Amino acid sequence: MSTYRSEKPSSAGFATRAIHHGYDAYVGHGSLVPPLYLSSTYTFPTVADGAARFSGEQAGFIYSRMGNPTTALLEERLANLEGAEAAIVTASGQGATTSLLWTLLGPGDEIIADKTLYGCTLGFLGHGLARFGVKVTHIDLTHPANLEHAIGPKTRAVFMESPANPNMHLVDIAAIAGIARCHGAVSIVDNTYCTPYLQRPIELGADFVVHSATKYLGGHGDLIAGAIVGPKETLQRVRTYGLKDMTGAVLSSQDAFLVLRGIKTLALRMDRHCENAQGIAEFLASHPKVATVHYPGLPDFPQYELARRQMARPGGMIACELKGGLASGSRFMNALRLFTRAVSLGDVESLAQHPASMSHSDLTPEERAEHSISDGLVRLSIGLEDLDDLLGDLSQALDSA
Ligand SMILES: Cc1ncc(COP(=O)(O)O)c(C=O)c1O
Repeated sequence: MSTYRSEKPSSAGFATRAIHHGYDAYVGHGSLVPPLYLSSTYTFPTVADGAARFSGEQAGFIYSRMGNPTTALLEERLANLEGAEAAIVTASGQGATTSLLWTLLGPGDEIIADKTLYGCTLGFLGHGLARFGVKVTHIDLTHPANLEHAIGPKTRAVFMESPANPNMHLVDIAAIAGIARCHGAVSIVDNTYCTPYLQRPIELGADFVVHSATKYLGGHGDLIAGAIVGPKETLQRVRTYGLKDMTGAVLSSQDAFLVLRGIKTLALRMDRHCENAQGIAEFLASHPKVATVHYPGLPDFPQYELARRQMARPGGMIACELKGGLASGSRFMNALRLFTRAVSLGDVESLAQHPASMSHSDLTPEERAEHSISDGLVRLSIGLEDLDDLLGDLSQALDSA
């Protein structure tokens, strides 16, 4: 009997690989769905086998903090979808960033990071790395020339999100990665907002990608997970030191199973997120109570051309500022009936959050202003409901704003 693997065309499309890559449904018991392995440890037939497993001479698993067959399949699939050599899955997006950076950086090194980042990434850089002798420099990476000026011989890594959470600023990944490489630094992109379906930073020249798989990759708001994607040799160091010894932020196989299930519908879901978000961004942009809409799919988005160059589609996230600032933003948020007031993003449900009082509330107003997070900024994660229902909800909430 022939197998899927032996027949699989190497040029299979994204959706096909998201469903099949790395798993042969004809082997073992013929289970269509990859099995869930729950074992924390793995057996060695003899002492010699155990020694060979530890030395790396024999392939196979040892202990699930170092690898598990279910998480390994998810890693193989994610690496393939991102166009990378390897991937490691982690207990959270935060676990991905911390495991990678603890491995790459040491006292005396410098990391340059964009000014606008997810709140806990900012927290880790400021309260974590900086306390252990790593110099953390924040600059505005939306202008690559800023990096040319700031980068120096001690810069080991450049870290960015694109689009950035929560203000939707884009970074020219190819330009930033090129400058970093010329100066001997690695570039790291948090690709949570896009997923590899919309943007593949490694193909654009970046060295590493990190993900909060809690978001679009899982897609259903029922798990916390993360991933690091990049070159095999360095990721082996991340697995052995950063993940195994330093953070221990290992993904459970149950959650890996759910992420594998989520990824099977990633292409479908992302297309629908993008269609709904485009319709909503256009509606908001024409509404008299809305001051600004930040969405890469609007022709007057300041980085519209860059969005078209590096993203397949503009994504499912929108930031908007209401006329009347914080007070009208709060009235709008409280009047929402179908959109749910919650942080997180990328779920099938549409979510609304207010960064100044929620995800970025631990920054001072001055710090928020520096990161272009105004008090009236509302962040919308557009879900998969019917567009007309979402528009109806926004319309009635804007009436109350
Ligand atoms: C862009 C981005 N990166 C990283 C994270 C952290 O991910 P997690 O919550 O899975 O630790 C988040 C969480 O919201 C995020 O939005």
